[in-house]
Amino acid sequence: MGIRISGTGSWVPERILTNADLEKMVDTSDEWIVTRTGIRVRHIADETMATSDLAYRAASLALENANVTPEMVDLIVVSTITPDKPTPSVATMVQSKLGIPVSCMCFDIEAACAGLLYAINVAHALLASGQRKRALVIGADKLSSVTNWQDRSTCVLFGDGASALVIESDPGAEEDFLVGTSLGADGTQAGILQIRGGGSAVPITEENLKDHPHTITMNGPKTFQQAVTRMTSACRDVLEKTGTAPDAIRWAIAHQANDRIISAVADRLNMHEQVYRNVERYGNTSSASVGICIDELNRGGKLKKGDLILTAAFGAGLIWAAEILKWQ
Ligand code: UT7
Repeated sequence: MGIRISGTGSWVPERILTNADLEKMVDTSDEWIVTRTGIRVRHIADETMATSDLAYRAASLALENANVTPEMVDLIVVSTITPDKPTPSVATMVQSKLGIPVSCMCFDIEAACAGLLYAINVAHALLASGQRKRALVIGADKLSSVTNWQDRSTCVLFGDGASALVIESDPGAEEDFLVGTSLGADGTQAGILQIRGGGSAVPITEENLKDHPHTITMNGPKTFQQAVTRMTSACRDVLEKTGTAPDAIRWAIAHQANDRIISAVADRLNMHEQVYRNVERYGNTSSASVGICIDELNRGGKLKKGDLILTAAFGAGLIWAAEILKWQ
C-alpha cells in the first residue's frame, strides 16, 4: 500500500499591498524592496478574516481537487504561527467549517515557516502506521496580524495566505509520495527571529503594548545566513540519503522568504533550472508558502506522474526541513 497526494489547494485574500503602498507607510522604496527581497506585492486579509478562514478556503479547494468529500477526512493537521486564538486549534475550526465528522483527529503544529513540511511528515507517519486514512494538511498564516507596520525591516516582507494538501492511503498504489526527509532545529538561536510577547513568558500588558511585543522581530542578516546554510545542508542530506541525483529533481521549491535566499541555495546546489518561485507575488506567507508553489504547479499542469519535487523551508526556532516528494 502506498500513500499519495491526491489534491492541492491554496488561497490568498483579494486585497493587495504594493511596494508603492509601503512607501507611504514607512521609510522604504520599491527599489530597495525589489533588489533586497524580490517582493513586489503581498496579499493582506481584512479584520473580518482569521487564519481559519484562509485555511478553510484552501482546504475546500484541495478537497475539490482531490475529489474527496468532508466525511472522508479523518485527520487534519494545520501548521500556523497565527492561530485565530491560543486555543482551540485552527484544525478544529476547519473541521467545523467543513462539517468533517467528530471521529476526525485534529491538531495544530508550530514549526514556523518549516511547518507545512513538518505537518506533511507527521500526517504521513499517522497514515503509514495505519492509524488514519485520509488527511488534510494545511499551512495557513495571517502574518499581517503579527507584523509591526512601523518596522520597515520586517513589514515589507510578509503576506497572508493558506495552502492545503489532501494525503491519502491508496491500497492500489505501490509507491509512496514521501521519498525522503531531513528535518532539524537549533533552539539555541531562537532569539534571532521571534515574537517575544503574547505567550506565558511575556503576556501583553497595557504597559508593554507600546513596544509591540506581539509582533515579529528579526535579525535579518543572521536569519538570511542561517536560512541559506540550513536549507542547503538539509537538501544535500535528503538527496544523499535517498540516493537522488540533483538532475533527477524536476522542481525545487524553497520557502518563499526572499528571492536572494532562494538563489543562494540554488547556487550552492547547482539547481537553478529546476527552481520554482512566486515570492514576487505573495511575499513571505510562512506556513503557506511551499504549498502555494505546489498548488500553482499542480493547477498549472506542470506536474507529471513520477516528477520529483525537492522542497525546503526554514523559520523561527530555528527550524528547517527538506523533503523529496514524488508526484503520482
Ligand atoms: O521566514 C523566515 C525566514 N526569514 C528570512 O529568511 C528573512 C531573512 N532576511 C532577509 O531576507 C534580509 O536580511 C532582509 C530582506 C530582511 C534585509 O536585507 P539585508 O540585505 O540583510 O539588509 P540589512 O538588514 O543588512 O539592512 C541594510 C540596510 C540598513 O541600513 P544601513 O544600516 O545600512 O544604513 C537597513 O536599515 O537597509 C536598511 N533597511 C531598509 N531600507 C529601506 C532595512 N529595511 C529597509 C527597508 N527599506 N524596508
